[in-house]
Amino acid sequence: MKTSAILGTGSALPAKVVSNDDLAKIVDTNDEWIRERTGIVNRRISVDETVTTMSIEAATKALEDAKLSAKDLDLIIVATITPDGAMPNAACKVQAAIGATNAMCYDINAACSGFMYGLQTAHAFISAGLLKHVLVVGAETLSKILDWNDRSTCVLFGDGAGAAVLGPSENGILAIEGGADGVKGVALMLGNRPLVNPYTKHEAVQPYVEMDGQAVFKFAVRTIPHILNSLSEKTNIPLEDLDLILLHQANKRIIEAAARRLKLSEDMFPMNLDKYGNTSAASIAILLDEVNKSGKLKNGDKIALAGFGGGLTWAGLMLEWKKD
Ligand code: UT7
Repeated sequence: MKTSAILGTGSALPAKVVSNDDLAKIVDTNDEWIRERTGIVNRRISVDETVTTMSIEAATKALEDAKLSAKDLDLIIVATITPDGAMPNAACKVQAAIGATNAMCYDINAACSGFMYGLQTAHAFISAGLLKHVLVVGAETLSKILDWNDRSTCVLFGDGAGAAVLGPSENGILAIEGGADGVKGVALMLGNRPLVNPYTKHEAVQPYVEMDGQAVFKFAVRTIPHILNSLSEKTNIPLEDLDLILLHQANKRIIEAAARRLKLSEDMFPMNLDKYGNTSAASIAILLDEVNKSGKLKNGDKIALAGFGGGLTWAGLMLEWKKD
């Protein structure tokens, strides 16, 4: 077996839908601004759901889709910056719930790039022949670390989880690309102050998202073409030959600007940020599951995935779809 492939996907979302109009009731914003500047219309906000419960649901669905049992897993990675607690890690909680008794378990903190870093780690273990089946989950409850008085951040994010099971294959991941720039990390970070979550009524001194939106916007629009061009060079596959490109769902304008810079049709870039907002580490995982379950992907299709976010971090990969 030469490489690793995605054998199954799953996702889970909180039940509560919060619209732009709902947000306009708690902060000085409006539907028109949010739609035009971001493309976001609704997002899901967790009230009873947690990173653990959503990770378990997404993982269970991904195993079903891969036609594997939890005992087949050698490693579980959960990418999250909002675990329910630091110890035990989120991956161990998933392991306990699904009965993946043969798996090592750890979490990855790479913000919105976390799911991509997780896929790359899984690929490295599997293609080296060290492990056979790896579950990667991207899961976040960003709503719990937002300042709901700050209209420049609280309208952007949502909660959710997505998962993928990877295993050895003749066709699958073709190349990876990634990096980080810690010097620019201050553009997107967590501060600390007393906050009230209007959806759970929870009040505490807690970390909250602070962001230089325009700096992150420019970083994203430069970084996406860098990742994709690098993957194209490594594989000798022109980007226009790809069937789909799945990007981190932060802002419709970022995706449109990246498509323009790359001279690619916007139709190549599926989006779901209108429904879910920016779900950080979960966004590419949820989108991948939607695309997979919609039947849009057939064996032999070539796709690229790319994410960027806090750290600052970025990561992507190109793969030939080979599921069954
Ligand atoms: O996973 C990665 C995470 N982060 C990102 O991807 C964020 C990348 N950045 C962005 O998506 C955009 O920079 C934002 C959507 C955050 C902001 O869009 P922008 O076009 O850069 O707007 P801006 O920050 O320049 O703000 C323009 C105006 C300001 O008012 P003034 O100073 O012109 O009077 C803001 O105060 O819009 C105001 N504003 C709002 N108005 C209504 C900011 N947020 C809102 C809001 N509703 N929610």
